[in-house]
Amino acid sequence: MSCRLKWKRILLKIGGESLAGKEGFGIYFPRLSWISEEIKKVKEMGVSIGIMVGGGNIWRGEKAAREGIDRATGDYMGMLATIINALALQDVLEKKGIITRVQTSIEMREIAEPYIRRKALRHLEKGRVVIFAGGTGNPYFTTDTAAALRALEIDAEVILKATKVEGIYSADPLKDKDAIKFDKIGYQEFLRRRLKVMDSTAVTLCMDNKLPIVVFNLDKPDSIKKIVLGEKVGTIVED
Ligand code: GTP
Repeated sequence: MSCRLKWKRILLKIGGESLAGKEGFGIYFPRLSWISEEIKKVKEMGVSIGIMVGGGNIWRGEKAAREGIDRATGDYMGMLATIINALALQDVLEKKGIITRVQTSIEMREIAEPYIRRKALRHLEKGRVVIFAGGTGNPYFTTDTAAALRALEIDAEVILKATKVEGIYSADPLKDKDAIKFDKIGYQEFLRRRLKVMDSTAVTLCMDNKLPIVVFNLDKPDSIKKIVLGEKVGTIVED
């Protein structure tokens, strides 16, 4: 079955906002359940899956500056938020029969394993979904950059970046009716256009290591499944 797969090991990046309900904050469990079903479908196809979760549904580092908090402190608060999300996702995935391991970039051994690359690889080889929490563990780095870093470390063939829109557009499709969607865009072009969907540090890391990124709409059923089967879904960033 796995011979039909375009990508056998993926790093799925799920932003915190994807876990929230209509209010845009907190964890909406029906949503988590829906996402878990989407993940389960590809797991059952034999895809090896690492997941990087964001924390924006609970706290955003940039918000800290506006509130008068140091950026670094705000970012650490955001890292803790991603760990809350990771534990919630782990619980929901495991209730659906998917074996998972959470690894944190910041050590908190009482609640999860610390990130150890070779252990993560072993979990993946054993068919476990590994959820990476805490970003890179450093302030000033986004969870998109952490996704790129972990994807490279675990030899993922692609990053699937989940969003609420169909892919990458020339302008914000919600504000500009003339915005056009790209099926494919080069890294340099992405950076030149200063597109907001992913930060430049993450894209540069992918560019330097020839790691493709697929930006897609997680709200469309079977998107992840279609992508790993090689169907044209969303926008691919590659040369
Ligand atoms: P292998 O035996 O290598 O296949 O991996 P395993 O994860 O099944 O074995 P391990 O004995 O390392 O882990 C057993 C359980 O304990 C798993 O649910 C791990 O996630 C968990 N675990 C392992 N290390 C830690 C840790 O440092 N902290 C916490 N909280 N849990 C851990």
